[in-house]
Amino acid sequence: MCGIIGVTGDGNALGVIFEGLRRLEYRGYDSAGVALVDGASLWRRRAADGTHSVDDLIGSADEVPEASRTGIGHTRWATHGGPTTENAHPHVDCSGQLALVHNGIIENHAELRGPLEERGHVFASQTDTEVLVHLLEEELAGGVGLAEGLRRALAGVRGAFSVVVLSADQPDVIVAARRSVPLLAAVGDGTGFVASDISALLGRADRFFAIEDDQVAAVGPGTLEVTTLAGEPVEPTSVVVDPGWDVEAAQKAGYDDFMTKEIHEQPRAVADTLLDRWGPGKDLVIDELRVPPEDLRAVDKVVVVACGSSYHAGMVAKYAIERWARLPTEVEIASELRYRDPVLHERTLVVGVSQSGETLDTLEALREARRSGAPTVIVSNVVHATMAREADGVLYTRAGPEVSVASTKCHVAQIVALDLLALVLAQWRGTMGPAAVAAEFDGLRRLPSLVDEALGRAKDVDAVAEALAGARDYFFLGRNIGYPVALEGALKLKEISYLRAEGYPAGELKHGPLALVEPGVVVVAVLDPLQDKMRSNIAEASARGATVVVVAADGEDVTGLSDHVLRVPRVDDPILAPVVTVVPLQLLAYALARRLGNDVDRPRNLAKTVTVE
Ligand code: M6R
Repeated sequence: MCGIIGVTGDGNALGVIFEGLRRLEYRGYDSAGVALVDGASLWRRRAADGTHSVDDLIGSADEVPEASRTGIGHTRWATHGGPTTENAHPHVDCSGQLALVHNGIIENHAELRGPLEERGHVFASQTDTEVLVHLLEEELAGGVGLAEGLRRALAGVRGAFSVVVLSADQPDVIVAARRSVPLLAAVGDGTGFVASDISALLGRADRFFAIEDDQVAAVGPGTLEVTTLAGEPVEPTSVVVDPGWDVEAAQKAGYDDFMTKEIHEQPRAVADTLLDRWGPGKDLVIDELRVPPEDLRAVDKVVVVACGSSYHAGMVAKYAIERWARLPTEVEIASELRYRDPVLHERTLVVGVSQSGETLDTLEALREARRSGAPTVIVSNVVHATMAREADGVLYTRAGPEVSVASTKCHVAQIVALDLLALVLAQWRGTMGPAAVAAEFDGLRRLPSLVDEALGRAKDVDAVAEALAGARDYFFLGRNIGYPVALEGALKLKEISYLRAEGYPAGELKHGPLALVEPGVVVVAVLDPLQDKMRSNIAEASARGATVVVVAADGEDVTGLSDHVLRVPRVDDPILAPVVTVVPLQLLAYALARRLGNDVDRPRNLAKTVTVE
């Protein structure tokens, strides 16, 4: 959450910050702000406009200090203190000479604030962040430099942060620090940058570095010095930019919004995730996996940890890993695993799934697993992400940048990547013979064209959306492999249309929620080809007056079963079907949200990358 950027040594500092904020806006858009060094003082502008704060900020940037080459910017997802201009970053100290932006949460802000106020500091916001700038102000009063001041200021701070500071008294440097929240630095020819995400810096520099936990980076024009919080110099971790991540890949490319673009990029995302996985020995090879086959052979349990749509991809993986690799598999909501003393050990393979590779709940769950001695693998879409750096092994989804808050192409790419992992486990454990592995891999290779075909039926989905206009309550039902698809359909609808939508295992409906079904309620049922019992569950809802929409494979007889049918191409092995059956549900959520006039890329209250617990 929150996007931060800092620049020094660039004659167009404000332009770089504005462009960076546009690219980071997906991380939060409750408010936005910028501060520049303006001669011997600071120039600051902030705006808070719900979903278009960066535009507002840019519109309000009057009397820009032209000579400024150093500045910081922020786009906010509010945690402590409402989305108002006073709470917008950058925050300044009492003298107005120091400015600071922050992503994360300062957990002991309340206990730090009281003593600061007693010592005369005047607070201008309700944020947890503002204590940092006043703490820094006190340290700098002792005559130390900005980096040393920040190190000292952070000594008594608990929580998660990436923080960037700027001082009008030291105009050619920006200083940043990180704990648990992503932060990158970059160095160009006479320029230096920091940002939450590489997308903000693409095209600006040629050398990129990951700032690790409890490190402080002092960035000057063309220079970078990294130390620990204790002041020990360290060699910065160099990161290689994924060649698929260029500025163009992060543009709408003629689509109305990123969500449609990304929905239509799904065949490519799936195909790319499968590229180069079939080795010369006619077996599956995952180069980046890094965990040796003998370690994977020793595994006796798999635990998948993730959040949101990534968690739903993990639920699909449970079916594949149990069926193919015959390993008991648990799927855990990441924020729950960490706090309940889970039983993990060297033979438990813990698989994190994360589009961003930065979600703090998942990161902390993986760290917990590593502390328990369990081998960890992360399925990530971001090559240099913290989880990709920390986990023992990686499996990359090659979906390219996903900008829309609602995950689509990364979700299907994650399912495919997890299927690959399940097959590799089966291959190495010998639970599937080479021919069976090859047959499933062929099935995976057919998915891009089937997804493409499903996308070609968008008009049918629009017609159903039109017929459903006005409905406010939805149940999404599925059984077996259709259940996670139903959960994902409900999540997509909730997050972009703001309609009430519950995903449910179809067989459970009669154990309680059926009481909610009445005329006006819409039931969207994913008809898994294996599940005849689904038909009875659908009939039970129909009999109570629900409007029923069925997602059914071509050729499936659905006569009299529902009010509307969304057809999808048939997938030979039902275990691979979620990649295709989820497509009409994404399109339905999109069509309903657009009809309601919602901003599908930037749903209210949400952010793309969630770096708070
Ligand atoms: O980056 P991650 O995959 O770790 O993110 C996890 C969730 O925050 C994410 O999937 C979220 O639920 C999406 N907005 C769903 O569309």
